[in-house]
Amino acid sequence: MEWLRVERGSLIVDGTLGMGGHTEAFLKRGAKVYAFEWNEDSLEVVSERLKEYGDNLQVFPISFVYIKEVLQRERLLADGVLLDLGLSSFLIERSGRGFSFQKDEPLDMRMSLELKLTAEDLLNRSSEKELGEILKRGEVPRASSFAKYICSVRKKKPLAKTFDLVSVVRDFYHPSKKKEKDLLALVFQAIRIEVNHELENLERALREIPEVLRSGGRLAVISFHSLEDRMVKRTFKEDERLLVLTKKPVRPSLEEIRENPRARSAKLRVAERRS
Ligand SMILES: C[S@@+](CC[C@H](N)C(=O)[O-])C[C@H]1O[C@@H](n2cnc3c(N)ncnc32)[C@H](O)[C@@H]1O
Repeated sequence: MEWLRVERGSLIVDGTLGMGGHTEAFLKRGAKVYAFEWNEDSLEVVSERLKEYGDNLQVFPISFVYIKEVLQRERLLADGVLLDLGLSSFLIERSGRGFSFQKDEPLDMRMSLELKLTAEDLLNRSSEKELGEILKRGEVPRASSFAKYICSVRKKKPLAKTFDLVSVVRDFYHPSKKKEKDLLALVFQAIRIEVNHELENLERALREIPEVLRSGGRLAVISFHSLEDRMVKRTFKEDERLLVLTKKPVRPSLEEIRENPRARSAKLRVAERRS
């Protein structure tokens, strides 16, 4: 709230509405909110939850890569834009799309059904080289050899469920109990990022959003892994239209982490549109 200087009458764009925690806080401060969310099930729940705010909340059931297009069409400039990247607890726990390695679900991993390829398609149909590159981009260790191993396993039986992927990771790496969770998180994350084009979407959004910020308007991005954070840090620094306000990323306090352990890896960076 402070970084975006939300006040009565501000126009705030929430690029990642989710369950509407941030948006509701903006609305309570009297802002008008344009919110983007591409997951169909989240939209249904959040629209019902926030309906009391009426016209102060405009919801767009599309990707945040269209923020510039929507604002320019309406000839608007935003006072603040927020991107709170990645998955929501709702998607992890209730989507049934295979985001968690702790539940046996179909290997889907699409945040939006508009996306064509599922994790299952990607794991079973990509070439060994493509798979190796996807894993390498996600900083998975020994990516090329692991890709080769996946290809040998899928020839016998295609991977269909999350637990199939968990078994492949266990059989290839034989990780210790202590390391297993981190490794699984890294592999699942690498596949999810690819299925949802997360880095491409972020790159485009970071490039286009400054065009629809008023001078003095702010862009705040919360990221949850180093690939995204590095992209935010570099893009903010290189963009001449922006003044970086956070030399170091803002991290959650120990108290916040205790209350909400999923916040532990969050990093917030903020930049201001120069005049
Ligand atoms: C970390 S959650 C946001 C939680 C939200 N700030 C709240 O208070 O509930 C990220 C949300 O962004 C959505 N999302 C991710 N990438 C998106 C994109 N390219 N366009 C629109 N929504 C996206 C996800 O579906 C998810 O609901």
